[in-house]
Amino acid sequence: MTMKLKKTLQIILALCLGLWMISCQQEHIKLTSPNGKLSLEFTLDEEGAPRYCLRHAGKNILLPSRLGLVLKDAPDLLTGFVLKEVKHDSHNDVWQPVWGEEAEIVNHYNELRVCLKEETSLERELNIIFRLFDDGMGFRYEFPRQQQLQEFLIDDEVTEFVFPADYDAWSIPVKGVRFYEALFEKKTLSKMGWVSTPVTIETTDSLYLAIHEANLTDYAAMNLKPVEQLEDNKTVTLRAALTPWSTGEKVRVTDTRVSPWRTMIVAESAGDLLLSRLMLNLNEPCRITDTSWIQPMRYIGIWWTYHMKHSTWHAGPHHGATTENTMRHIDFAAANNLGGVLVEGWNEDWATWKFSFTKPYTDFDIQRITDYGRSKGVALIGHHETGGNVSNYENQMEDGFKFYEKYGVHQVKTGYVGDLLDGKEYHSSQFGVLHYRKVIEAAARHRICIDNHEPVIPTGLQRTFPNLMTQEGVRGQEWDAWDVDGGNPPSHTVMLPFTRGLAGPMDFTPVTFRFVNDVMPQTRVHTTLAKQLALFVVLYSPLQMASDEIENYEANPEPFNFIVSCPTDWSRTVVPEACIGSYVTIARCDKGEGCWYIGSITGDEERTANISLSFLDTDKSYLATIYRDAPESDYETCPAAILIEEREVTYSDTLTIRQARSGGTAVRLCPIKDS
Ligand code: NOJ
Repeated sequence: MTMKLKKTLQIILALCLGLWMISCQQEHIKLTSPNGKLSLEFTLDEEGAPRYCLRHAGKNILLPSRLGLVLKDAPDLLTGFVLKEVKHDSHNDVWQPVWGEEAEIVNHYNELRVCLKEETSLERELNIIFRLFDDGMGFRYEFPRQQQLQEFLIDDEVTEFVFPADYDAWSIPVKGVRFYEALFEKKTLSKMGWVSTPVTIETTDSLYLAIHEANLTDYAAMNLKPVEQLEDNKTVTLRAALTPWSTGEKVRVTDTRVSPWRTMIVAESAGDLLLSRLMLNLNEPCRITDTSWIQPMRYIGIWWTYHMKHSTWHAGPHHGATTENTMRHIDFAAANNLGGVLVEGWNEDWATWKFSFTKPYTDFDIQRITDYGRSKGVALIGHHETGGNVSNYENQMEDGFKFYEKYGVHQVKTGYVGDLLDGKEYHSSQFGVLHYRKVIEAAARHRICIDNHEPVIPTGLQRTFPNLMTQEGVRGQEWDAWDVDGGNPPSHTVMLPFTRGLAGPMDFTPVTFRFVNDVMPQTRVHTTLAKQLALFVVLYSPLQMASDEIENYEANPEPFNFIVSCPTDWSRTVVPEACIGSYVTIARCDKGEGCWYIGSITGDEERTANISLSFLDTDKSYLATIYRDAPESDYETCPAAILIEEREVTYSDTLTIRQARSGGTAVRLCPIKDS
C-alpha cells in the first residue's frame, strides 16, 4: 500500500469514527430498571454537556439534569465531550448482611457506563456509571487515570436534579446546625435552602423520593441547594453543594478515582421508602473475614445520670464511672438480658477535655470490671470522646484500641463534640470523611465495633465494614434532657424513619421511663411510655440503647419486659402503615424464634392504629403481648400510664388500637408452640 493510499484510508476511517461519535451523541442512551418501571436517558447536548433524566411509569421524575465538575486551576469538566464508549450490564444476586433489618438483601440492577472524552486538545476522559434498581437510581463519576488528569482539585460538583414541579420535601439545613442534630422541616423544594441529605420528597403523583449518597469514601459529603429560578419557570433544580475544606476546595482527588454514588430512592408509598436497600447495595461487600466478634445488642449505660446531673463525667465525689457503679450496672444488665453497659467518663481528663485513651481514672478498675462482666455475660462498651481534636485522637488511636482489646472490649462509642475538627475542618468535609474511615479500619484491626457520635452522615459503609454498627448524626433523645426550647416535639420521631433513618442505623437512645426533668423542668421527653417502647423497634440500630437510669427500669419491671426480649438484628421487616410526620408502624421478625415485634407510633394527633397481621405465618397462632397507651395516657398530662394485655391472634387479624397524642404501641408476637 502506498503512503498516499494509507493516509487516505486513515482519513476515511477517522471521518467514519467522527460520524459514528456524532450520531451516538445525538442518540439518547437508555437504561431501564429490572421491572421496567424506571427509565433513565443519558444525552450529550449540542455543547457536549452530559445530562440525564429519569421517568417512572412514563412520568417525569427528573427533567434533563446537568452532570459534571468544576476544577480548580484547570478547565472544567462540563462541556465539550463526545461519547467514547457505552457499555450495558446487569446484575442480580442476594447477599447476607452480618446484621440488619433483614437476613437477605436482593441486589438487582441494570447498569449503563458512559465513557466520555473531551474533543479539545486536552482530551480528558470522564466516565459516568448509572445503575437502575426497581427501587431507585444510583450514579457516580469515575476519573480514569490519565496523563492529562492526574491529581486534581474539585471546586464544585455540578450534579443537578431538575424536578418538573415544586414538590414538598423534608430536610434539615446545613447552616447553623451542628452534627445533623436538627428537626426535619417540611418545605417546598425551592424554599429549602442549603440542606443536608437525605432529602425526602413527595411528588404530586404520590411518589416518594429520597436523595442521598452511598459509599462516601475519600470525598466530601454532598449537600443540596436549590438553584435560583426565573419566576415563570415551574421547574425546580437542586444542585450538589459539597462540604469544603478550610482552604475552599471541595475534593482533593489523588488515589480514589471515583465519586460516591448519588442516589435517589423512588417509592410508591411512604412505607416503601423504609424498605429500600439501594444505599447498601451501592456499597462494597464485607471486607472483614471473621465477623464473629461483631454482635448486635441491647445496652444500657452510665450516661443519662450525667444529663440528670446525678453524677459527673469527671472524677470527684459524684463520679459516675466508678468500679462499683459499673458493676451494679452489669448486675442489672445480666438480670435483664442486656448485652452491654456503656461507661462514659472512665478516662483522664474530663475536667480539661485533654483526653487520654489509655489512662483510666483511678477509681475505674477496668480489669476487675471486664472480668466481672465476662463472668456475667455482659460487655463493657467503651468510650472515646475526642472533643473534635482529631490529631490528639489519631496520635493515640492505635494504643487506645489496643488498650480496650487487651480487656476484651469489642464496642466503642466515639464522639467529636466540637464545631470543627482540629479547630478548622467540617465534620462532613473530605478531611472528616478520611478520619472517620481511618477509625473504622483501625477499630476493625482490633476487633472493635464503632458507635460514632457527631459523625459525617452515614452512607451505608456498614456493608463493607459491619463493625461500623451505629451512628448519631441525629437529634437524639438527649435533647429532651437539656434543650433550652423544651426538647423534641411529638412529630420528630414520626419523621426520622423517612429522613435520617434512610441513611442507616441511628443511636437515638430511646426508652425513657421517668418523664420528669429535675434539672430543666420545662424540658422533657414528649411521648407516652408505650411510644418509648415502640421506638426501640421503629428507630433501627443494631446497638440499641435503653438510655434511662436503671433505677427507673427497676421501678417499672413490667413495661421493661418488652425491652428485655426485643432483638436488634432481624430476619425481615415490613411497614404496615406509614404517613410521614403523622404515624408509622413497623413490624420485624427475629432471627430464629419466629417471633415478630411491632413498633407503632403517632405524632401530634391521637389516632387509631389498624395494624394488619397478614405478615404472620398462615399456619400458626401467636400470643400477642401488647403494650399500649391507657385511656388516660397523654404525653403532656399523663405520659407514664400504660396497659399491658395478652391476646391470641393469627395472620387474618387486624390490631385496632387507640394511640394517645405522641403515643404508641409495642407488640411482641410469638408462635404458640402446639398451634
Ligand atoms: C455528645 C454525645 O452525643 C453524648 O452521647 C455524649 O455523652 C457526650 N457527647 C459526651 O461525649
